[in-house]
Amino acid sequence: MISFRNSEKFDKDATVILIDKEQLKNKDFPFNHKKLEEEFVALSKNGQFSADKDEMFPLVIKGGLVLLVGLGKKEDLTLTALRIVVKKALVSQFLKKHAEVEIVPHATDEKSVIAVIEGFLIGTYKWDKYKSKSKDDKSVPRKHVYIIAPEKREYKQAVTICEGVNFTRNLVNDNADVVTSGLFEKTVKELIKGHKNVSLEILNRKELKAKGLNLHLAVNQGSNKEPKLIIVKYNGGTTKEDYTAVLGKGMTFDTGGLNLKPSHHIETMRIDMSGAGAVVGMLKNILALKIPKNIIFAMSLAENAIGSNAYKPGDVFTGYAGKSVEIGNTDAEGRLVLADAIAYLVKNYKPGRIIDLATLTGACVVALGFDYSGLFSNNDDLSRQLVRASNETDDRVWRLPVYPEIKEYIKSQIADLKNTSSMRGAGACTAAEFLRSFTEGTTWAHLDIAGSAYVENGCRMYFGHGATGAGVRLVTHYLLNN
Ligand code: BES
Ligand code: MN
Ligand code: ZN
Repeated sequence: MISFRNSEKFDKDATVILIDKEQLKNKDFPFNHKKLEEEFVALSKNGQFSADKDEMFPLVIKGGLVLLVGLGKKEDLTLTALRIVVKKALVSQFLKKHAEVEIVPHATDEKSVIAVIEGFLIGTYKWDKYKSKSKDDKSVPRKHVYIIAPEKREYKQAVTICEGVNFTRNLVNDNADVVTSGLFEKTVKELIKGHKNVSLEILNRKELKAKGLNLHLAVNQGSNKEPKLIIVKYNGGTTKEDYTAVLGKGMTFDTGGLNLKPSHHIETMRIDMSGAGAVVGMLKNILALKIPKNIIFAMSLAENAIGSNAYKPGDVFTGYAGKSVEIGNTDAEGRLVLADAIAYLVKNYKPGRIIDLATLTGACVVALGFDYSGLFSNNDDLSRQLVRASNETDDRVWRLPVYPEIKEYIKSQIADLKNTSSMRGAGACTAAEFLRSFTEGTTWAHLDIAGSAYVENGCRMYFGHGATGAGVRLVTHYLLNN
C-alpha cells in the first residue's frame, strides 16, 4: 500500500528523511519539526551527518526511528540517482523490521515525487516465490508506505504504472512450465473481465493452421504446448481514430531448437516471453487508467523446443504474408513468430502504427548492454516520441539503424527471405530488417529488449536480480501522451 499525505506525523514505525547537502548547509529542511531540526544542526556541526550520497544515519525520536538519508550534492542528483537512493534506504538493515514507513522527499516537484514512488515500488520488488524464509530472518513485510506530498492524479497514475511493471516481472520471472501460452490466455481474460470496450481474438493451433501462420507454427512444432496469437482490441477512443498496435514476442522457453543453445545461454530463456509479458503489463495499466485511445494488444506465444517434431535448419516455410523463409538457424525464432503476427495485424486490423517488443537478439546485448533497449523504426516521428518517453520514464531506449541496403543480407537462394544474415555483425539490425519487411509500410517501431528485460547477478540501477519489466513504463507513457 502506498498513500500520500500533506505533512509528516512521525507516528509510523519509521520516517525516512531525504535531504541533499545544500539543504543541510542552508538549514532548508523539508519537514516541520523543531527538535529534529536541532538534531540535524548538531549532527552536521560535529560532522556525524553531512548528507553525502547514500549516507544513512538513524535517530530515535519519541521512540520511533527517523532515518536520515543523504542525497549528496543537489547539482549531481539525477532522478535515476534519487530512485537508487530510495531503494537502498528502503532495503537497508535499518528498515527491515518496519511494516509502516513514512518518506519525506527532499523536494515536492512532480518529477522528484514520482522518482521516489518508483524507487520504492520498482526498487524494492523482489522475486522470492520459491525461496524459503530463514529462521533468523526477522524482517517483516512492508505493509504501508506514506509519501509526504499532496495527493495528485499523476502520483496515483505512477503507482498504477509501477504495479503494471511488477505484474510483468512476476510473469517473466516464473518457471517456463508455469507461464505457458495457456497462462497468458487466462491472465488476459481475467484482466479484461467486465470491460465493455474490449474484444478478444485468440488463434490457437487450429486457427493458425487454417489461416496460414506457418512461421509461427514451425517454431512451435517441437513443443507439446499450444501456440497462440492473442489479440485484445481496446476501444478507448472514438470510432474515427486509428489503432496503435503493441505486439510482444512470447517465447515461453527458447531452447534454440535443433541449433540448441549451449550452457550459459540457455538457463535464462524462460524470460524470452518478456515482450509479451510487457504487453500484459501495458494492458493492465491502460485498463486501470481508462485511457481514451484505441489500442491493440497482441501477444505471439510459442515454445521453441527440441524433439523429433522440431522444425529443422534448411527447411523453408511460407507464412501468413505469403513470403517464404529459409531457416538458417532455428534459434532465430523470434522474428518468425513476429513476422506472422505483424502480417496478420496489418492485414486484419490495419493499425495506424505498430510497436513490437522482443528479446530478439544477443547482438543487441553486445551493442547496448543492459541499460538500454534497442529502438528500430521506419518513422522518425514515432522514434522521437519513444525517445522522449524514454527520457521521461527512465525506461531507456537508444536508436539503432534499419536502412534500405540492409535487406541484401537476409536474402536466400531458395526462398524469399532467410531468418539469419549472410553478413557478420549488426545482428540486431538484420533482425529488425526482417521484421520491417512484413510491415507493408505501416509506421513501425521495434524494441529489442534482450538486454534490458533481465538483470542477472545482483543489481542494475534500482532493479534487483531478475525481470525488470522493460518497456512497460515506456510504452504506457507513450500511449498516455501521444
Ligand atoms: N531469445 C534469443 C535472444 C536473446 C539472447 C534474448 C540473450 C535474451 C538474452 C533469440 O531467440 C536468439 O536466440 N537469437 C539469436 C539469433 C541468431 C541465431 C541469428 C542470437 O541472438 O544469437
Ligand atoms: Mn532463439
Ligand atoms: Zn528467442
